[in-house]
Formats: sequence, structure tokens, C-alpha cells
Amino acid sequence: MAIRRIAVIPGDGIGKEVVPAGIGVLDAAAAAFDLDLEYEYFDYASADYYVEHGKMLPDGWFEELRPFDAIYFGAVGWPEVVPDHISLWGSLLQFRRHFDQYVNLRPIRLMPGVTSPLAGREVGDIDFYVVRENTEGEYTDLGGRMFAGTERETVIQETVMSRIGVDRILKYAFELAETRPKRHLTSATKSNGISISMPYWDERVAAMASHHPTVDVDSYHIDILTANFVLHPDWFDVVVASNLFGDILSDLGPAIAGTIGIAPSGNINPEGLFPSLFEPVHGSAPGIAGKNVANPIGQIWSGSMMLDHLGEPEAARTVLTAVENVLARGGAALTADMGGTSGTDELGRIIADEVTAIA
Ligand code: NAI
Ligand code: MG
Repeated sequence: MAIRRIAVIPGDGIGKEVVPAGIGVLDAAAAAFDLDLEYEYFDYASADYYVEHGKMLPDGWFEELRPFDAIYFGAVGWPEVVPDHISLWGSLLQFRRHFDQYVNLRPIRLMPGVTSPLAGREVGDIDFYVVRENTEGEYTDLGGRMFAGTERETVIQETVMSRIGVDRILKYAFELAETRPKRHLTSATKSNGISISMPYWDERVAAMASHHPTVDVDSYHIDILTANFVLHPDWFDVVVASNLFGDILSDLGPAIAGTIGIAPSGNINPEGLFPSLFEPVHGSAPGIAGKNVANPIGQIWSGSMMLDHLGEPEAARTVLTAVENVLARGGAALTADMGGTSGTDELGRIIADEVTAIA
């Protein structure tokens, strides 16, 4: 069995608590499936590192992290000490950009024992992926401000859609749809209002669809699409979107599926030229940090996504089933945000034991 080298970056706040819980579950999966996971811990991408060094990352971070097979990331941000734009741009966003993690992947699934804020929705009603383009689109630094401070003040910020950039995210999404029973892909567009870049997006969707004839494709303008996430979440299977639209959908998705404490994500370079990064959707939650009350499931589920990415689908599936089983049993075993009494570490151990029991 090949050694998988994983860079572990806990970051700030509850990242330092949920990461150890996640590692405990990965260890249980490694033991059960005879995987060789080798961890190396890094203390950068944190407020403590910033206070000591005046920056979020050391100069050599790129070369240091590049050889790893994946990055297992907690959360970054401690606004009392470092302004959020510095901590995020100085660390996580550097990883996403320089490691060309052009896919932001978020599974949206209503889990057993979790109540959706949408009335009457049950397990099975909400089960889809949001695939967000993570490197170009509406988020660029192309543009500028003219005549600043005068009444002619004018600002322009450009959207960039390259054929390579659009096609690679669409290809990933179509191929993901092909692995799913429904084989259904929804494209988020706005070609009625954004009259140059979004018709181009639609054109590339049509071109990619012609290469994936078994995938059933539809398309909604982003405004009605957000409404349909709330009204008809059962309509969706794989939803692909540009950077801005995907940003919105990938927060709305976890919100309709219940608590933020359990939502996972992947920032993926599918070709494996650079390490991909797996992290919970939530942040460092300063208000509850250090109290051993944070829900570790978002971190644990992110570990399942990482195992899948590393080519271990069986181990990945087992971790997810363990999470589902523990959630379904409910009760005191869960953390306080889900009505239980377990600490972060305790719930981590319960899920790790479940992995061992069912593997
Ligand atoms: P947050 O996700 O840290 O917290 C939002 C709310 O959810 C809080 O009430 C928090 O207590 C609760 N919460 C979050 N995770 C939880 C968990 N695992 N268990 C139980 N409750 C949980 O978002 P917020 O407050 O906007 O940001 C706090 C810091 O985190 C900021 O510095 C922000 O920049 C950073 N952040 C970092 C992210 C990352 O590293 N990817 C993502 C989002 C925010
Ligand atoms: Mg967001």
C-alpha cells in the first residue's frame, strides 16, 4: 500500500479542536483498510504564527506543501488579532490559487437526525453537489478606479471566463454527474442579464453536454435557481456554477441541509498536479473556541472526501456511513449544537469507534 503524505494545518480557533477529532477518525479508517497515512503538522496559516512572524505563511510554503498528496485543513481566522482579509488572503486563498484548486466541491445532503430548516424535508430529499469554479469568473483583480474622489468617480471590475477555465470545471461536473444514479446536471446561468460572459458559459455547457450524452442537462438563471434550492431541493443532483454564483449556492446549500457544523468541502486540483485541500465549511468560530463543544463532523466528513480523492472510495464510504449511523442514533452522543452533551473529542472517538465496528 502506497504511503499517502498529508499536510495537516489546524489553523485557528475550533480548527485546533476539530482537526484532532478528524485525524482520530482517519486513523481508524487507516487501520481498518490497511492504509498508510503519514501526517506532517504545520503551525502556519494561523493568528499565532502571524503574531510571531508578521505574516501568515513562511516564504517557502509552496515548495514545502507541494509534494504532499493532500492538505487537511481546519479553519483560519482570529479577527481580534489579524483582520480577516489578511488571514484569509494570506493563507487559504494562496493555497487555492497557487495549487490551482479550481474545483470547490460541496456535498449538500440532509443527514439522518438532522432537521432541515425547510419544512417537511426528510433524508433522501436533499442529496446533491455544488461544483463551484474556484479560480476565475467574477473574482478577478482586473479593473480600476478613475477620477477617484470626484463626481466623475468611475469603477470597473472585469469578469474573466477562459475557455480552459470554463471547460475544465464543466468537465469535472459532467464526469461527477456520470458517477451518480440520476446523471443529472444543472447549470447556473444569467444569460438574460449578463449578456456576454454568461451566453459564453451556456455555449460551453452545450458543447460539453454533446460529449456526455447520457447526462441529463438543465439550466436556470441564478435568481430562480436560488428560489428552487429552497422550494425544490429534490430537483438537483450536480449543480455547476461560476465563481460568484457558486459562492452563493455553496452557502445556501449547506444552510438548507441543516447545521453548518457538519458541512464539508474540497478544494480540488483534479489532475493531481498540486495537492488538494479538504476543510469544513465553517470557520474558526472564536465564540466557542477552546471549550471542546465544536461539532467535529464537518471536519470528519471532509476527511471522507479526502480519502475518496486519494483513491480510497471504500474507506471514504465507511467514514460517511459511520457519521450517518451516529447521527441517526442521535441523543447525548452528539455535540451541543445538535442537542447532545458530547465534547468535540468524545464525538470524534464515537465516530472513530463506529468506523472500526462497521469496517
Ligand atoms: P464561523 O463558521 O466560524 O461561525 C459561524 C457560527 O457557526 C458561529 O455561531 C459558530 O459558533 C457556529 N459554528 C461554526 N462551526 C461550528 C461547529 N463546528 N460546531 C458548532 N458551531 C459552529 O463563521 P464566522 O463567525 O463568520 O467567522 C469566524 C472566523 O472564521 C472569521 O475569522 C472568518 O474569517 C473565519 N472563516 C474561515 C473560514 C475558513 O477557514 N475556510 C470559513 C469561514 C470563516
Ligand atoms: Mg462563501
